[in-house]
Amino acid sequence: MSAILPPSERLWWKHPLDRLEAVWIGIAFVWCMVLFFMMVFWHIYGKQNLATETYKTTPEKFSAQAQAVVDKYTVRTETEQNVPVVAPPEGSDVYLIGRLWNWWPILELEKGKTYKLHLTSMDYNHGFSLQPTNINIQVVPGYEHVIKVTPNESGTFSIVCNEYCGIGHHEMVGRIYVK
Ligand code: CUA
Repeated sequence: MSAILPPSERLWWKHPLDRLEAVWIGIAFVWCMVLFFMMVFWHIYGKQNLATETYKTTPEKFSAQAQAVVDKYTVRTETEQNVPVVAPPEGSDVYLIGRLWNWWPILELEKGKTYKLHLTSMDYNHGFSLQPTNINIQVVPGYEHVIKVTPNESGTFSIVCNEYCGIGHHEMVGRIYVK
């Protein structure tokens, strides 16, 4: 038997299953099942890939909503680009835009308070990765992802884009402050 030469008998699939072959198929099947149930397990206990509500939206509609919140709750601006820092009240809807190549605006949240975070992309697929917490959410254009967030730790958190989105991908970082 050789893996390189053609099989000596053309109708090789009609041969009875070799014991070793059956064992490997068995191992592969069991491993597939393990990986499959790990997805469910990780979703519930891993606390990484959150359950998000997703709705259809448009860049125009979402920017208008985000702008309204920014106009209302901006407390200061930061960086050379004058990115607004938005400190919304507890329980409110908070909007975050991902686009080539930044996250806008900067959010300032309070520890132990709950907010509804709305996420979308203006252009291509981006990845919302909160560091160092390692929370990951896909940010898909045309869709609005809504996540309930209750920060349980204060500090400065970074948002890095973890979905390759072009030449400025590595510069696509954002910030969330938790007081
Ligand atoms: Cu946005 Cu990578």
